[in-house]
Amino acid sequence: MTSQFSKKNEAWSARFSEPVSDLVKRYTASVFFDKRLAQVDIQGSMAHAEMLCFKKIISEADYADITRGMAQISAEISADNFVWQLDLEDVHLNIEKRLTELIGDAGKRLHTGRSRNDQVATDIRLYLRGAIDDILGLLDQFRLALLDLAEKHADTILPGFTHMQVAQPITFGHHLLAYVEMFGRDVERMADCRKRINRLPLGAAALAGTTFPIDRERVAKTLDFDGICANSLDAVSDRDFAIEFCAAAALVMTHISRMSEELVIWMSPRVGFIDIADRFCTGSSIMPQKKNPDVPELARGKTGRVNGHLIALLTLMKGQPLAYNKDNQEDKEPLFDTVDTITDTLRIFADMTCGITVKPEAMRAAALQGYATATDLADYLVKKGLPFRDAHEAVALTVKTCVDKECDLSDLTLDQLRTFSPLIEADVFDVLTLEGSVAARDHLGGTAPPQVRAAIARLRSQIMVAPLD
Ligand code: ARG
Repeated sequence: MTSQFSKKNEAWSARFSEPVSDLVKRYTASVFFDKRLAQVDIQGSMAHAEMLCFKKIISEADYADITRGMAQISAEISADNFVWQLDLEDVHLNIEKRLTELIGDAGKRLHTGRSRNDQVATDIRLYLRGAIDDILGLLDQFRLALLDLAEKHADTILPGFTHMQVAQPITFGHHLLAYVEMFGRDVERMADCRKRINRLPLGAAALAGTTFPIDRERVAKTLDFDGICANSLDAVSDRDFAIEFCAAAALVMTHISRMSEELVIWMSPRVGFIDIADRFCTGSSIMPQKKNPDVPELARGKTGRVNGHLIALLTLMKGQPLAYNKDNQEDKEPLFDTVDTITDTLRIFADMTCGITVKPEAMRAAALQGYATATDLADYLVKKGLPFRDAHEAVALTVKTCVDKECDLSDLTLDQLRTFSPLIEADVFDVLTLEGSVAARDHLGGTAPPQVRAAIARLRSQIMVAPLD
């Protein structure tokens, strides 16, 4: 039945006496980005319709029509046959309008006891829940790729750095496990955030609930939510769950960015610790010798935009009085871009990790420079009875001599070493080797190869493998 309603403003307005300008229409519309929520919007609508029917708020016949109409709409959208209209503002009104076109009045009854406010909050939660499940699978794949590389290099020695200065020798496997730990905490954060996302806002209606005898728990169960949002005002207005997701995503990217920085340094010809497979690199249009690590560089750069999205959402929320305000429509683009960026990045990093070639000789050569075993010599003297501060001083003098002679600690003869401390004996050379140094750090969390292998086994058993599609 056509009324004044559709003449003045397609979507909602018998109350308005003039239509909005084209500019305002474009400014306020969200359909060109929120159409991405279409399938979860239909899922939410179907659960709502099922409950309305169960509670006899709509008839069985209406429910059957809605089911048929929505199936057709879902197919049209999947086949890219759906005509999205700017005039209809957003994904919700576009779908509802098409439903009414297909099934008549039953389509108009679907919105009974609900508002776009609780509808959109439900859609975002459903969408984000799915996105997190994908991200968790990708994080696991990436961690497994890191574990494989770590296992191959449980014995490979490179210098460990502090302040970007050679500090102590470490194993490359151990270094990689640091990232496995970071991404493991990212998994925990994402999974924890999912718990708070997985609550149903529907039933809050516009803000105060509805006069219809709805059953919110039934809808929650149908949609596989763990429960309902307990307060209707909160349910429609807060986006803290999306902010939390963006914060967790920003940390994922921060970890990716730290790793990227290392990959770039390691691949620099001045360092030469690794090579990255050609398919992740590009050349220069002018300098024929160049092979640039574009993927890690871009990932480092994209961290900025993900961090930016977090700030955008925090700022979006901070000035909003209860309950729903249109500001919230601005949550979607940052959220979608965050999901896309971290999903693509994790997918590429899992693959790229398998395309890393390690150059153990270069790592070893670097570890032999910079007196990486100086701490081992100090510890040796402590074990022979010297107080640590005195040992530190004796080794500092030894290093100074080596710097002057341009040689390594292990290049000094026993007699030369004994001039710094009579406690030094022939067994000192065991601790001055790189292998001796890493093997000595043989405790939980240490860099010794057996510890690295044990940590890899523990981590592997923790990771539930989710296949990449
Ligand atoms: N497109 C809107 C959003 O994303 C849907 C909710 C609109 N509600 C309203 N009362 N105008 O938030």
